[in-house]
Amino acid sequence: MSFLALRDVAFQYPGTPPVVQGIDLALAAGEIHCLVGRSGCGKTTVLKLAAGLLAPSAGRIEVRGGATLGPGEVGFVFQAPTLLEWLRVRDNVLLPVSLQRQPTPADAHATQALLARLGLAGLAERYPRQLSGGQQSRVALARALVTAPALLLLDEPFAALDALTREELQCDLRELAKARGTTVLFVTHDVGESVFLGDRVSVLAGGRLVRTIVSPPGAQRDTGAFGAACAQVRGALGQAVAASEAAPA
Ligand SMILES: Nc1ncnc2c1ncn2[C@@H]1O[C@H](COP(=O)(O)OP(=O)(O)OP(=O)(O)O)[C@@H](O)[C@H]1O
Ligand SMILES: [Mg+2]
Repeated sequence: MSFLALRDVAFQYPGTPPVVQGIDLALAAGEIHCLVGRSGCGKTTVLKLAAGLLAPSAGRIEVRGGATLGPGEVGFVFQAPTLLEWLRVRDNVLLPVSLQRQPTPADAHATQALLARLGLAGLAERYPRQLSGGQQSRVALARALVTAPALLLLDEPFAALDALTREELQCDLRELAKARGTTVLFVTHDVGESVFLGDRVSVLAGGRLVRTIVSPPGAQRDTGAFGAACAQVRGALGQAVAASEAAPA
């Protein structure tokens, strides 16, 4: 049984053509699945549908075979960090907990451990305005992880980071998700990031899934298998663009 499944899902805003359609996507428990595509192709829309933030116009979405996930079981990292500027870093990270109940010493410990893991150990008392853009992105990631959610949905969370920091965080996220058995749907427009992070990569173009590619195991960037998988993703992206250009208006 899939952990998360989208079955023939479509979504459209009132009075507009479908933004996404015919989306069939099934994630096994513990899988990291990347969704890659060009700007405007519908990636964020698919993620919001998976999160239940948008309701499908057609088709259905199943989590754990129909059961709904409770508060704290889904973590979402938005395209912008969306931190609360009047809360210190520590309290921003603890927010998903404090919205539900009084945080315990164990929650405080988990927060501190995550901050340390993400290179933010000394910044817990700062406010978001006192952080760099990359540090803010990491706080948003810590906030999504603090409840140890079963499902983690991320929308280009590393897009604003430099290449080295980005690669470090990709490794951290992969290790954390695999250690915890978290199921992850990760949106990016970066082909290398998608192949490195994802167990599988789905290519989205013009609101449709055009291909799914299996990443080589081991997540090594300097192998021929890695390069070949990247070429497959690029090929699928290119073919989708060529097909849409050839289609009559
Ligand atoms: N509120 C809205 N009303 C109408 N159309 C919208 C609305 N929000 C998004 N769209 C359109 O839906 C399409 C898909 O948007 P979406 O945000 O899913 O794209 P994306 O792949 O995440 O793009 P990016 O990589 O730029 O973030 C776009 O063409 C966008 O203009
Ligand atoms: Mg988007």
